[in-house]
Amino acid sequence: MKKRIIALLFAALPTLGFAEVPNYEWQSIKVDLTDKAALQDGARTFANYCMGCHGAKFQRYERVADDLGISEELMMENLVFPSDAKYGDHMKASMTPDQAKKWFGVAPPDLTLVARVRGNDWVYNYMRSFYVDESRPFGVNNVVFPNVGMPNVLVHLQGVQTVGTAQVQAVDEKGKKVFDPLTGTPLTKESDNELTVLPKTGTLTEAEFDQKIQNLVTFLAYSANPVKLQSQRIGTYVLLFLAFFFVFAYFLKREYWKDVH
Ligand code: HEC
Repeated sequence: MKKRIIALLFAALPTLGFAEVPNYEWQSIKVDLTDKAALQDGARTFANYCMGCHGAKFQRYERVADDLGISEELMMENLVFPSDAKYGDHMKASMTPDQAKKWFGVAPPDLTLVARVRGNDWVYNYMRSFYVDESRPFGVNNVVFPNVGMPNVLVHLQGVQTVGTAQVQAVDEKGKKVFDPLTGTPLTKESDNELTVLPKTGTLTEAEFDQKIQNLVTFLAYSANPVKLQSQRIGTYVLLFLAFFFVFAYFLKREYWKDVH
C-alpha cells in the first residue's frame, strides 16, 4: 500500500509543478572594471531594461556619468528616464515597491549591491537562463533562480529559450569530452531537457547576447563597488610612497648616526 502511495505521488509530481530543471552549463566570466565601453553599454542596458522595476538607489546618476566618462547631456538624454529625475538624484526604480508587490507578488530588490551579494557569475548565468515554462505566471522559469517572480525582460534580444531535445557534446563516464578517434572532431549525442533558443526570435546572436549580459554585469559589479577602481590606484601610490620614504629614512638614519659611531 505504502509503495503504491509513493508511486502515485511520483506520478503526480509533474502536475504539482516539480518539473525537472533543464541542463545548463554554468559559465564563469572575467569582469574588467577598466573597460569604459563595456561599463557604458551595461549602464545603458540597465537604465533601459531594468530600472522600470529595479533601482540602484545607493548610486547617483551624476556619479555614474563622472566615473564612466559620460557627459551630463548624454546621461540626461539617454539614461535618465523618470521625467522628474535630476542629475544629482539617486537611481530609483520608476515603480514604487507597493505597486511592484501588487503586480509581481514580490518587490523587485534594489540592485546596487547585487553583484557583490550574489556574485558576478550568478547574475550572468541568471540573466542567460530564462526559459519557457507555461506553468509559471509569466510563462517563464529560470535555471539559476527556480520559480522566479521576474518576467524575462530581455527575451526579444536573446530570443525565446525553450527546453527540448538538442545535440550536445558527448562525454564519457568521467565527464570528459569524447572525440572521434579518426578525425578528432567532438562527438555529439542527442539529449533531452536542453535549453535551445528558437531561431529568428531574438535580435542578437548568442555571442552578442552574452556580450550584452557581460557588459551589464560589469556595470553592476562597478555599481556594487564604485571605489574599487580608485582604491587600487591609491594603493599603488601608497606603495610607491613607502618605497621612496624608506630610502629617504635610511639616509636620514645614516646621517644622524654618523656622529655617534
Ligand atoms: C517587470 C519588472 C522587472 C524588470 C523590468 C526587471 N526585473 Fe529583475 N526582478 C523582478 C522581480 C519581481 C524580482 C524578484 C523575483 C523573486 O524574488 O522571485 C526580480 C529579481 C531580480 C534579480 C534577483 C535578485 C536577488 O538577489 O534575488 C536580479 C539579479 C534581477 N532581477 C536583475 C534584473 C536585471 C539585470 C534587469 C534588467 C535587465 C531586471 N532584473 C529587470 C522584476 C523585474
